[in-house]
Amino acid sequence: MIDARAAVLLEAGGDPRLSDVTIRPPVDDEVLVRIDAVGICHTDVSVAARWPAKRMPMVFGHEGVGTVVAAGPAARAAEGQQVVLTFASCGRCGDCADGRPAYCDRSTDLNLRGDRRDEASALRLGGEPVTGGFFGQSSFATHALSRPANTVVLTTALAPELAAPLGCSVQTGVGTVLNALSPTPDDVLVVFGAGAVGLSAVMGAKIAGCRAIVAVDPVPERLALATELGATATVDPTAVDVVAAVGDLTGGGPNLAVDSTAIPSVIATAMTVLRSCGTLALVGLGALNAELPVGLILGKGLRVRGVVEGDSDPHTFIPWLADLVRSGELPVDKLVTTFDLSAFDEAWAAAKSGRVIKPVLLTG
Ligand SMILES: NC(=O)c1ccc[n+]([C@@H]2O[C@H](COP(=O)([O-])OP(=O)(O)OC[C@H]3O[C@@H](n4cnc5c(N)ncnc54)[C@H](O)[C@@H]3O)[C@@H](O)[C@H]2O)c1
Ligand SMILES: [Zn+2]
Ligand SMILES: [Zn+2]
Repeated sequence: MIDARAAVLLEAGGDPRLSDVTIRPPVDDEVLVRIDAVGICHTDVSVAARWPAKRMPMVFGHEGVGTVVAAGPAARAAEGQQVVLTFASCGRCGDCADGRPAYCDRSTDLNLRGDRRDEASALRLGGEPVTGGFFGQSSFATHALSRPANTVVLTTALAPELAAPLGCSVQTGVGTVLNALSPTPDDVLVVFGAGAVGLSAVMGAKIAGCRAIVAVDPVPERLALATELGATATVDPTAVDVVAAVGDLTGGGPNLAVDSTAIPSVIATAMTVLRSCGTLALVGLGALNAELPVGLILGKGLRVRGVVEGDSDPHTFIPWLADLVRSGELPVDKLVTTFDLSAFDEAWAAAKSGRVIKPVLLTG
């Protein structure tokens, strides 16, 4: 067993606390990764808030980046390689075989439930099993085990704090635009919510050369950053009527929209503001039910679709994103605020309050 530190959730409704844990060596196709940096995504926060007592204790974290320090006999990554850990998939179902791992049949189990809290558990606290395997990694820790499907090798090094958000938020935002919506320079895109995911969608739209990019968010600093990252206009929904403002700014409405807020009324606004035959990509998690305005969707010929992890194949998309970060076309540094792992409580509070857009923990 290897000694490690991890942020462990011990009680329902509480916050994870840094604790001493142990982690077993890698078996089969697993690698043991020494985590150098890990981002906090809003999915960590929202899933932790409703994590059931029967699956405690639990370690979250799904934007880990680090160095392989041990490899199982069938592992694909080798010791010493820099790896970005991303969402897990089974590699065997029809969607995995067809290159859509984000829609893997086993996605919910492999990503959102963690492994079984039993004798097979890889993590232990005071000798007792801890649930791990969140997104196939549980990387709010100094060490994590991962398998080939969610272990992406970077052959050219990238600063860990910039590589970490590529594993989820940036992949999701950029991929939703470039992979799922595939805009041309004639297209006009509106993004609801300018957090790490929405701002990544703005960066994606800029890379695609969209004619106009509108960001909607009630937080002035986030709108200012959206402008810096490529938004051609911004709207504060607390100050103006969003439908009228976006319509005016885009000369009749956008044809593409991304919702990262998961707020039913915002989703309704997005559908109202779209022009005929437009497409809305739903990315935010949380609004488990929202009204479906059939007349509006039908009358305008709208497409509404969900997008997980930017529809991406992480093994090609993440190295491509890393190249864009190196070339300066994807300025992820503008989203990131770093914290020492020892300041986990502060970073977690900053993620929950929205004070920081992308907190990244440095474990070194
Ligand atoms: N689909 C996926 O694969 C995937 C991947 C990563 C994250 N997510 C989800 O995406 C969502 C966004 O993540 P994030 O990290 O960017 O979160 P975030 O909380 O930083 O971003 C949400 C933004 O919405 C803004 N907002 C609040 N009310 C609004 C309103 N009325 N109109 C417009 N904007 C409003 C907030 O100010 C905030 O900036 C979360 O629900 C997260 O769980 C989904
Ligand atoms: Zn699968
Ligand atoms: Zn995430």
